Amino acid sequence: MSQIVNEIEWRGRTGPFTIRLNPGVFSPTHTSRTLAEALEITPEDTVIDVGCGSGVLSFVAARLGAKRVVGCDLSGEAVQAARENAVRLGLADRVEFRQGDLLEPVRDLQASVLIGDVSGIPDAIAEVTGWFPDGRAGGPTGAELPRKMLESIGDTLAPGGRLYLPTGTIQDEKSIIEAARRVFGDNMVSVIEREFPLPDIVGKSLAVARMMKDGLLSLHKRGSRWLWRLQIWRCERA
Ligand SMILES: C[S@@+](CC[C@H](N)C(=O)[O-])C[C@H]1O[C@@H](n2cnc3c(N)ncnc32)[C@H](O)[C@@H]1O
Repeated sequence: MSQIVNEIEWRGRTGPFTIRLNPGVFSPTHTSRTLAEALEITPEDTVIDVGCGSGVLSFVAARLGAKRVVGCDLSGEAVQAARENAVRLGLADRVEFRQGDLLEPVRDLQASVLIGDVSGIPDAIAEVTGWFPDGRAGGPTGAELPRKMLESIGDTLAPGGRLYLPTGTIQDEKSIIEAARRVFGDNMVSVIEREFPLPDIVGKSLAVARMMKDGLLSLHKRGSRWLWRLQIWRCERA
């Protein structure tokens, strides 16, 4: 039986529309909205949305005209919520959701577009923010899970296909970009770059101070506020 309790309004690209969230399902953020803005979708596209959460970016891709969209997430609660959202939004004929680790659930498909928004926040920061209600964050530096996703792309992205990848100075961004370059070489470009304030609780946390000291995070201050920078990369497969 459905346990959906929370409803939010998506005011990003192709919105407004409402999304329902189960307890434990990631609520869309600045990164989701910025990633949505970067997407270029054609009617020929088959889109895979890995780390789909509530399904919000899958719905944006479908509303932008993609032929077929498959979202996948490790969280069963996310997949359940995403499926119910697809039905409510009248998109279930074009959008489906599968549960499993990274790209394992979609190995039977070849995408022309991959949305690669898996958890990428360092575990210690995720703990203080509550951004990941099910406790699944990106690993000790926030880069471990995105790197694993990049290394596992294989044939799931078609030649000429493109990956949309968010990176930020709130994680070990350099190592994610290096991992992406090993897959895409020079065929990657940062298409959107934006700064956001870090919640005070994060700016003041010991975990952030420690990771800044280790050179893993690169935050800067405006007045009394810490800011982090988000980039969305468009990576094209040769
Ligand atoms: C940053 S959230 C993004 C959710 C969604 N794209 C959005 O914009 O709201 C990352 C998602 O990755 C999922 N995730 C974490 N580990 C995963 C894994 N190993 N395989 C697939 N998804 C995973 C989380 O459950 C979460 O829903």
